[in-house]
Amino acid sequence: MSQKPEDLFKNVISHSKEYGFIFPSSEIYDGLSAVYDYGQLGAELKKNIRDYWWKSMVQLHENIVGIDASIFMHPTTWKASGHVDAFNDPLIDNKDSKKRYRADVLIEEHVSKIEDKINKEVEKAAKRFENFDAVMFRRTNARVKEYDEKIQSITTRFKKALNDNNLEEIKQIIVDLEIVCPISGSRNWTDVRQFNLMFSTSMGSVSEEANTIYLRPETAQGIFVNYLNVQKTGRMKIPFGIAQTGKAFRNEIVARQFIFRMREFEQMEMQFFVKPGTEMEWYEYWKKARLNWHLSLGLGKEKYRFHDHLKLAHYANAACDIEHDFPFGFKELEGIHSRTDFDLKQHETFSGKKLQYFDPELNQNYVPYVVETSVGLDRLFLSILSSSLKEEQLEGGDTRTLLSLPPALAPYKAAIFPLVKKDGLPEFAERIMTTLKFDHQMAYDEKDTVGKRYRRQDAIGTPFCITVDHQSLEDQTVTVRNRDTMVQERLPVDALANFLNERVSLKSLLLTL
Ligand code: GAP
Repeated sequence: MSQKPEDLFKNVISHSKEYGFIFPSSEIYDGLSAVYDYGQLGAELKKNIRDYWWKSMVQLHENIVGIDASIFMHPTTWKASGHVDAFNDPLIDNKDSKKRYRADVLIEEHVSKIEDKINKEVEKAAKRFENFDAVMFRRTNARVKEYDEKIQSITTRFKKALNDNNLEEIKQIIVDLEIVCPISGSRNWTDVRQFNLMFSTSMGSVSEEANTIYLRPETAQGIFVNYLNVQKTGRMKIPFGIAQTGKAFRNEIVARQFIFRMREFEQMEMQFFVKPGTEMEWYEYWKKARLNWHLSLGLGKEKYRFHDHLKLAHYANAACDIEHDFPFGFKELEGIHSRTDFDLKQHETFSGKKLQYFDPELNQNYVPYVVETSVGLDRLFLSILSSSLKEEQLEGGDTRTLLSLPPALAPYKAAIFPLVKKDGLPEFAERIMTTLKFDHQMAYDEKDTVGKRYRRQDAIGTPFCITVDHQSLEDQTVTVRNRDTMVQERLPVDALANFLNERVSLKSLLLTL
């Protein structure tokens, strides 16, 4: 049954809470804005996603190693990286609704509405003409050309204003485009101000400025400051990568949309160090590799697209996002950035230490260039959860809630049910559980009818349900029911380990890469 996107999103949030995937943080005190806790099933799903990323990046690449750097870093790190001076969002408030917005987001949303109009024109024309050539149509249709020119003019003006840090001009663009506050509907805007997103705290007992430290806003800097340690001790040869997963913190102004934009979140980042001049080749390589990784989850090719950045971050010479079609539209899921030698050079300057590589082939030292892949684990979690949650119409008018997670990522890989709670069936089921639980996270359920137990497992994404019945005692076979097809087959107990290994292990997913 197809659901309206806004209904789907509401369902994702309530389903997450009802089944123990995600809870609002410190909920008994009414929660904390844009901070969430992962419950018993959420923690499993999140761990499986993290493991899949780690194995595909670190374990499958001989030239990528993983580290685990601290959240607290020397404060000069953030001066060097540019975050103290430039990690800002331009803010604007609507005086009537008292709501605060990111000025850049208001403008980008306006542009994407014009893009939607173009797409509608193209779709309409495609239905009308045979052998429709979309590229030619976009180039020649008067209305589309007008929209295209409008987008071009807004983006050029906006890009210049951002690069010049011209906040008055950014406000003027919002005024000229007649952008209204979505809450009050008015154009009564304040001036645009810059707002630094880093959280700070103080280390030690005296809170003087010298003791101010920051909660890292990205994990990447922990990699840059360890570049030389890893390169030397790991005898790494360029090109090579350093990966890590870990918490990052940002005092987001517009923190909404559940776990899409959080103040405390987890990143999975990899910095790939390359010879200067080869960075664009590697940038293209990682764009492709990372898109393939997302496609391997099987959520559908149409759910992803690339988006080139309008505004390049202070460290990048090329950057794009892999966007996912969330219930609230296409939004950034992962960033791929060509960061040049900006970070290592800055750390050389601020630390006074050389952060170079001796290239034996060129017989010369250089500061490597860097291509970064950076994905938010929580956003990835949301993309997988929202694409997997369905209300399915069954024959006979019944419906079921189905969470069709990629089997290798599901919190439980299989559930074991004794058909009845007597005649030795529970003991038989527990014996199977004992043999399988060393390889897979298993659920055991003996309450209610088997039909109800199937429904419970369908709703939490368990790919297989194994039922022990009286025949099992006689011939050592069980029924195995597939979550997606609901088809049941009879299998010998001895075949279960192999059956599951082939279908639900991370290896089965890694082999598709
Ligand atoms: N090191 C580069 C970097 O941090 P970014 O585009 O700011 O780049 C990378 O962030 C990824 O981190 C994003 O694509 C997104 O998935 C995730 N992310 C960023 N801010 C987030 C937030 N407030 N809440 C959840 N995820 C976030």
